Amino acid sequence: MAVTKKQINALMKDASKAANLILKSIEKSDTIHVSSHTDADGLASAGIIGKSLARLGGTFHLRIAKWVEEKVVDQIAAEKPPLTIFTDSGGGYLDLLSEKLSTNKVIILDHHQTSSETPPAFIHVNPHFHGIDGSRDISGAGVAYFVAKALDKTNVDLAHLAVVGALGDMQDKYHDKSGHRKLGGANDSIVEDAVNTGYLKVETDLMFFGRETRPIHQALARTTNPFLPGISGEEDKSLAFLANLGIKPKQGDKWRALRDLSEEEKKNLFSAIADYLVSKGFAGDAALNLIGNVYTLAREEPWTPLRDAREFTVMLNATGRMDKAGLGVAICMGDRGKCLQEAITVIKEYRRTITKYLSWLTEKPERLEELESIYVVRGDSVIDEKVISPVSSILSTTLSKLGKPIIAYSLISGENMVKVSARAVEPLIKKGLNLGEILNVAADKHSGRGGGHDIAAGAQIPIKNVEPFIKLVDKLVKKQLKGIQLEG
Ligand code: C5P
Ligand code: C5P
Ligand code: ZN
Repeated sequence: MAVTKKQINALMKDASKAANLILKSIEKSDTIHVSSHTDADGLASAGIIGKSLARLGGTFHLRIAKWVEEKVVDQIAAEKPPLTIFTDSGGGYLDLLSEKLSTNKVIILDHHQTSSETPPAFIHVNPHFHGIDGSRDISGAGVAYFVAKALDKTNVDLAHLAVVGALGDMQDKYHDKSGHRKLGGANDSIVEDAVNTGYLKVETDLMFFGRETRPIHQALARTTNPFLPGISGEEDKSLAFLANLGIKPKQGDKWRALRDLSEEEKKNLFSAIADYLVSKGFAGDAALNLIGNVYTLAREEPWTPLRDAREFTVMLNATGRMDKAGLGVAICMGDRGKCLQEAITVIKEYRRTITKYLSWLTEKPERLEELESIYVVRGDSVIDEKVISPVSSILSTTLSKLGKPIIAYSLISGENMVKVSARAVEPLIKKGLNLGEILNVAADKHSGRGGGHDIAAGAQIPIKNVEPFIKLVDKLVKKQLKGIQLEG
C-alpha cells in the first residue's frame, strides 16, 4: 500500500520528539547507551545514530545484542544510563522493558510489530503506529535516519545507510511497472535523499552483486536472493554456466563485469537462468526476482564490498554474525583502511560458513522436513545458532516453489535453549499469514519469547519444548491461512 506524505509527517513528528530528548541529554553531557540488533539493519541503525551523536559532540556506549532478553535488559537496569536508545529492537518487547526499565529514560526507534502498550515515560518511534508497514515500508535504519535528520539536517548524508538497512531486511518487495523489484513505501523518500546527496545511484538491471565492479562469474556466485542452487556460493560452477552460454569472462586479460555485457548477452543470460530455475522445480516467473533496482554507493571505491548496497548488507551481516559487530558499525560511521581489510577477511569466513550449511542441507532433501503447513529445518547442533537467521533467509528465497513457510532452529550452546528463525514469502502474507504473531503466541505458550515481522520472525525457547512448539506453529499457520484469527 502506498504510504502518504501525511503518514510520513506523523512519523517524522515522533522522530522530532526523540531528537529533542537526545539533544537535551547531549547538553547535559550524558553518556548515552545505544542498544541495537546484530543484523545488517541493526548495525546500520547503530551506525546512523552513532554518527549523529558523534557529530553533535555526544558520547555514547554501544551494545549489540542478538535479541532482547532478560539478561540484556537486566544489565541496562543495573547500569542505569541517563538515556538508553534502542534501535531496530525493543518495540516487540514492551512488557519486558516496562517491567525492568520503567524508571529509566528510554527511546525506542523500531519497526517491529508491537505486542503491548508503550509505557508513557518512553518515547517510541514506530511506523506501525501510523499505518506504515514496518516489514516492507521502512527499516530500523530508516527510523533511525528520520531521527538523525531531525537532529541535524546535515545528516541527510547518512540516508544511504538507511537504504542499506532496508535492503538488509529484504524490503525490496515493491515492483515497478515492468514487475521489477525495488524498495518502496517510506523507503522511497529515503532513497530520494540518498540520491540527492550524490551517495546513491539507482539503476534497473540484473541484481548481481557488483554489476560494475566484479567479474561476472563472481557477481553471479555471490547472489543469494533468489538463491540459485548449484550456482550461488560456487564460483567455478558459475564460470562454467557462463562458458556454456558462450559468454566470455574476459576481454583481453581483463575480467568483464555485468555492465560490459551486451544487451543480447544479458538477455541470453537471463533466459538461461530462468530455464535453469524451472529445471530445478521453481515457478516460471522465479527468475523475474533477479531483475530490479540496483543500488550503487557511488562514493565507495570500486572492487570493495561496500560499493553495491546489497553487498554492503552482507558485510554487515558477516561482521554481526561472526562476533565483530563493532567493525560493521565503525565502517558505517566512516572507518575504512584496516577496518575494511579486516571486514573482507570476516566476509570470506562468513561465506564459507553459510555455504557449508547450505550444502549440508541440500545433500539430503529430507533435511528440509515437510509438515502439514510448514517446512522445518532441524539445525540442532549442526548449524551454528549464530547463522541460523541468514541460512533461513537464504532458504526462504527458494520458498516460492514450496508454498509453505520455513521454521529453522539450532541449539544455543550452554543454554538448554534453541534459537528459532522463521521466514515466509509474499503470497502467504497476502493470505493473512503473520509469523511474528504466531511465534509470539507459540513461544509464550512454551516458556520462550518470540516475535518480529509478518514475513520474518524469530524466537528462543527451551529445548525440551521444541516438539510441542513446532506442532503448535504448524497448527497456527494452518489456522491463519484459513483466515482464522489467533487468540493471544
Ligand atoms: O530485526 P530485523 O527487523 O532487522 O530483522 C529482520 C530480519 O528478517 C533480517 O535479518 C532480514 O534479512 C530477514 N528477512 C527475511 N526475509 C524477508 C524479510 C526479512 O529473511 N522477506
Ligand atoms: O533472528 P531472526 O533473524 O530470525 O529474526 C527475524 C525477525 O524477528 C527479526 O526482526 C528479529 O528482530 C525478530 N525477533 C524477535 N524476537 C525474537 C527473535 C527475533 O522479534 N525472539
Ligand atoms: Zn530491522
